[in-house]
Amino acid sequence: MPVTDPRLEIRNITRVFAGRPVVSDVSLKVMPGQVTCLLGPSGCGKSTTLRIIAGVDMQDRGEIHVDGRLVCDTVYRVPPERRSIGLMFQDFALFPHLSVRDNVAFGLRGDKAARRRRVEELLDRVGLLSALAKYPHELSGGEQQRVALARALAPRPSIMLMDEPFSGLDERLKDEIRDSTLDVLKEEGAAVLLVTHEPHEAMRMADEIALMRDGRIVQQGAPYNIYNAPVDRQAAAFFSDINVLRGTVRNMSVTTPFGEFLCPPRPDGSEVEIVIRPQHLRIDFDRAGRGPDPTPEDGTPARAVVERARFMGRESLVEFRMDHDGSVLKATVPSVFLPKPGRPMWLMMRRDRCFVFPVPGPGS
Ligand SMILES: Nc1ncnc2c1ncn2[C@@H]1O[C@H](COP(=O)(O)OP(=O)(O)O)[C@@H](O)[C@H]1O
Ligand SMILES: [Mg+2]
Repeated sequence: MPVTDPRLEIRNITRVFAGRPVVSDVSLKVMPGQVTCLLGPSGCGKSTTLRIIAGVDMQDRGEIHVDGRLVCDTVYRVPPERRSIGLMFQDFALFPHLSVRDNVAFGLRGDKAARRRRVEELLDRVGLLSALAKYPHELSGGEQQRVALARALAPRPSIMLMDEPFSGLDERLKDEIRDSTLDVLKEEGAAVLLVTHEPHEAMRMADEIALMRDGRIVQQGAPYNIYNAPVDRQAAAFFSDINVLRGTVRNMSVTTPFGEFLCPPRPDGSEVEIVIRPQHLRIDFDRAGRGPDPTPEDGTPARAVVERARFMGRESLVEFRMDHDGSVLKATVPSVFLPKPGRPMWLMMRRDRCFVFPVPGPGS
């Protein structure tokens, strides 16, 4: 099979503001027809990265390549308008005095009939052909978002850069608009780099997620892998609530009230954290003061009492106070499970769903 070249590749991009690096040594590839999400908390350097790729800001180090061609290093620089990049930001910034048709036609050059066909093709694709002659103020937020998408895609950019493009929209409409946006992006075949701080959005949209923290990409991979094999505790915690258990390494394993955990090679006496998501705790009933028998899959049960239980719609969230140290662990259960506070129960930790991470020592 022929190896496909990345549409967009950035190598070792660094940007320093007032002596502080806000983007540090970021490298990233986006393949044709794929959506890569740059995901991270507010202030971690996502927009700065996007602005550098767009050419409206300049890196201090590193290179940008589009379709295998250098478009920018610290010496050579293709201007933004010649990078074949489409932009879409959170304020869609449609031109208020232009009709929908003229907004979408704005960046198009060349033959008039061809431009007209392209505008109509895109408005049809986003389901707004009937709104051709309307003005932005006559459209809902979701409709304006679709016009902005059509406008950005009209010149057939090789790459679409989208910075939190759904954040201004009504929460209830977001998922529907995300899905229809994704359909249009896939039909157009652009390589997409989408910035978001919402893990749910990244999981829903991305073929690949690049998780960013403090100016660096800490992990990159398919959503499934990022969720199920996080690189560290923070990466795990970015996607859901987590439970954390501390332990000390002896002979490459850690003994806890939930039994033994094997751990990556660490010196005896070093501290580790065992992390598990609430949906992966197993809950079992009390049998006259005893729990279920230990198994290799789930380890040893530990006793707890129900602190409180809440129905969340799709699932129930139960908080347990652990007998062994008084800590609280959270478990979620599909559908309705609302045990009474004070009721004794037994928790087990699914071994295939636990992550064991070293606790960074001082100075590391
Ligand atoms: N032009 C600038 N001058 C100085 N600091 C900036 C500038 N632009 C962004 N920053 C800082 O860089 C950091 C990253 O910002 P940004 O890339 O916007 O983060 P994000 O998009 O992930 O929220 C922030 O601390 C921000 O205050
Ligand atoms: Mg931003």
